Amino acid sequence: NTYCIIMAGGVGSRFWPLSKSSTPKQFLDILGTGKSLIRQTFERFLPLCPVENFLVVTSNEYKSKVLEQVPELTEDQVLLEPFRRNTAPCIAYANAWIRSKNKDANIVVTPADHLILNENKFIDSIKKGVEFVDNQDVLLTLGIKPHRPETGYGYIQVGDENNTEFKNFSKVKTFTEKPDLELAKVFFESGEFFWNSGIFIWSLSSIDQAFSDHLNDVHKLFAKLDEHIGAKNEPEIINRTYAECKNISIDYGVMEKATNVYVQTVDFGWSDLGTWSSLYEYSPQDKNDNAVICGKALLYDTQNSIVNVPKDKVAVIQGLNDYIVVDSSDAILICPKDNEQQIRQFTTDIKTEF
Ligand code: GDD
Ligand code: MG
Repeated sequence: NTYCIIMAGGVGSRFWPLSKSSTPKQFLDILGTGKSLIRQTFERFLPLCPVENFLVVTSNEYKSKVLEQVPELTEDQVLLEPFRRNTAPCIAYANAWIRSKNKDANIVVTPADHLILNENKFIDSIKKGVEFVDNQDVLLTLGIKPHRPETGYGYIQVGDENNTEFKNFSKVKTFTEKPDLELAKVFFESGEFFWNSGIFIWSLSSIDQAFSDHLNDVHKLFAKLDEHIGAKNEPEIINRTYAECKNISIDYGVMEKATNVYVQTVDFGWSDLGTWSSLYEYSPQDKNDNAVICGKALLYDTQNSIVNVPKDKVAVIQGLNDYIVVDSSDAILICPKDNEQQIRQFTTDIKTEF
């Protein structure tokens, strides 16, 4: 009775200019493996739950992309959101779908765009996590040991580990979503904190209860939706529900507030590939620590940089240190790695300027 919700409605704006709203990161083969990130995510979870228990939640506009890349799914397994309302409504919608099938379900929620290096360890961790949440009213997240004071993540402060059967599982003391840099540094240096991987495990009843307790307005909007799943008027009702629903992530809406949150700390090699720097870290590098992801490059007096140009193009770069150079079909980005958090701003500025 394990279900898997793949959240695939984000834009991945910090990966601009390669990811854009017409083709967000999850649909790109960003690692050059021949498979898009969403395809890799689906395959990674296949040993853990039957195909008919998968759900992808995404925007209307990405429906065909999802079905093209995961043809094993039927149309009713792709839930279409009329508006982007972040991850809490996305999860509430999927919960309604699952409620209409199986009220005793356990659920794994995963982003569509992460990199996992050790898939066997990953599967073991998820299995153990599902065992942990079964018949317990808890919300479990997988935690990653941080290696820099990244501001784009949730930070989890752990309590004591005292469970012999579930080693590496701890009660969460505090959950802080996306702290500012100063706070992230304090968290990082204290050694008491883990990053939230964004992969969650819980039973349907626990997450329903958590919505009811902490996001009651969202809960009410989606509570009766299971009766309309698969009905002719589902799109119309979903439209209305989303129009009324606020925009909020599961992290701010539930994880920061709930008191029954646990973390399983894991080390299967994780990256959310959220930014060019995180891709850089996981890419092969030359003797000057440069990573050329795609295309050809002639690099002179250049170090610690990441270069991505179209397959048939050559980049010639002289004298850059710690830079991102990305050429997509319609835009070029040249930006110091340290300033990549501004990329989101660049993409909004572009829309107003041109
Ligand atoms: N269907 C749907 N609808 N999916 C969405 C939406 C939405 O409105 N918004 C985001 N997603 C999807 C994204 O495609 C991604 O796969 C996943 O949900 C997480 O959203 P992000 O926007 O990437 O979140 P984040 O990276 O800022 O933060 C989350 O992940 C971090 C780890 O990568 C949080 O959970 C953090 O606490 C966590 O550290
Ligand atoms: Mg992300």
